[in-house]
Amino acid sequence: MRIGIPREPNPEQTLVAGTPDSVKKLIKLGYEVAVESGAGARASYFDEAYAEAGAKIVSREEAWGADIVVCLDTPPEAELALIKRGATLIARMNPGANPEVIEKFEEMGITALAMDMVPRLSRSQSLDVRSSMANVGGYRAVIEAANVFGRLFTGQVTAAGKMPPAHVYVIGVGVAGLATIGTANSMGAEVSATDVRADVADQVESLGATFVEIPVKQESSDGYAKALDEDEQARVLKVYEDQAAVNDIVITTAQVPGRPAPLLLTEAAVAAMKPGSVIVDMGASPLGGNCALSKPGEVVVTDNGVTIIGYTDLPGRLPGQASQLYGQNIVNFFKLTTPGKDGELVLDEDDEVIRGVTVTLDGTGMWPPPAVSVSAAPKKEEAPAEAAPVEEPKEKSAFAKWWWKVLAVLLGAVVVMLAPPSMTSHFVVLELAIVVGFYVIGGVSHTLHTPLMSVTNAVSGIIIVGAILLISSSNLVVTILAFIAMAVASINIFGGFLVTHRMLKMFERSSD
Ligand code: NAI
Repeated sequence: MRIGIPREPNPEQTLVAGTPDSVKKLIKLGYEVAVESGAGARASYFDEAYAEAGAKIVSREEAWGADIVVCLDTPPEAELALIKRGATLIARMNPGANPEVIEKFEEMGITALAMDMVPRLSRSQSLDVRSSMANVGGYRAVIEAANVFGRLFTGQVTAAGKMPPAHVYVIGVGVAGLATIGTANSMGAEVSATDVRADVADQVESLGATFVEIPVKQESSDGYAKALDEDEQARVLKVYEDQAAVNDIVITTAQVPGRPAPLLLTEAAVAAMKPGSVIVDMGASPLGGNCALSKPGEVVVTDNGVTIIGYTDLPGRLPGQASQLYGQNIVNFFKLTTPGKDGELVLDEDDEVIRGVTVTLDGTGMWPPPAVSVSAAPKKEEAPAEAAPVEEPKEKSAFAKWWWKVLAVLLGAVVVMLAPPSMTSHFVVLELAIVVGFYVIGGVSHTLHTPLMSVTNAVSGIIIVGAILLISSSNLVVTILAFIAMAVASINIFGGFLVTHRMLKMFERSSD
């Protein structure tokens, strides 16, 4: 089957649904890939790179006329008209909020798969475009904040004085929130975060941030929050207001499925913030954002000097990476739906991930899918019934510590005494080498054993040279000993190579 990757019709959209890398992977799955000329230019992926990856560079009509069309969002009428009956459209569709598109797809007789409806199951994480975009968006939100914040993020002590770190407060710890925490923390800021789902506290702390308790705690089996009642809302708003006043940067990412973004920062909270503070409202939308004063797509500076960023295209500000992630999500979807790796799309509607994204199937309405029990929240590990008593390590007696060393010294002395006088000095050198080698090698940390192996390989090489010189000796004992030395040294050399080869293989990237 032929997959078409068109240039996004929305001139503001900088992303592309496939990159040269993801195209290569789709071809490996048996598909033919047709990319519209200039489709990836806004994300710095040019036609030559797609052609090199094996794609056909085609016209707009040909890309939209493919058997399967992959794009970012539901296309407008003009492009929908180019999709042929019986084709498959894969894009973000938000079908719950746009029932009219479902009717349109039914009319067109196509199969429509909404990539933004992938259920949040562990096994479907690799194809969840919302998580990919929220992750990139969260990173970019911190960069946008740092760009307008007139101070350093990291604290420093310099000859000219002390600079405090920036204090960043994140409200809503989903995928985007976790990304903002990780990014702000790595830039040296002091980060704290809040969520109505109290079970995310561990995740916040594991990223090095502080969890700020709020007076509402929701238990969530599906990883999503529920809307708050009036009393709860009033109580949380008070905490957010207090926190906003003591932090420099507030990043809001709160979302409740199926509703406009909840209000987190009121006008009073913004007024209480210090001049120079920054708010990034990731929930900004024409329906209202997390901050009462944010404007979608714009940057607003209030009278008290607070900058409010309401960009709605944060992933689009990192188009190369965001396209790569989106493209990889698409590849992972095709891996699931191309079991034969033969370029044939197989939609097994008994699979809850595939059923979850199917809006229409050959023109038949399939929306909404049956509810899926989502396991977004990681289960806490159960404590063992009774902890096993920890045994105190027993101190070894002096005899246990020393007997084998004394025995080794005595044995060494006996060997030296019994040796023919011409060999005495050789045996003394050998025994000293054993003692020094034992202590030197025994003291080397395990992580350095690989370089150590190279040294022992070199020593084994010298042993083999010595053994070759001696193996033709007229004394049978010497010949046998030389043979044994060669065999043992060879095991060390070839075994070393074998182990190194296996270890290096563990670090090789898989080709898909
Ligand atoms: P998510 O659903 O995984 O996370 C939202 C979090 O907010 C949840 O942990 C939820 O418990 C929490 N929350 C809900 N109500 C709350 C409240 N009243 N107080 C505190 N926490 C509350 O969503 P995800 O994927 O992390 O995305 C977050 C938001 O960022 C979404 O609205 C998404 O559309 C938006 N986004 C915006 C972008 C942009 O360019 N502006 C880019 C990517 C994502």
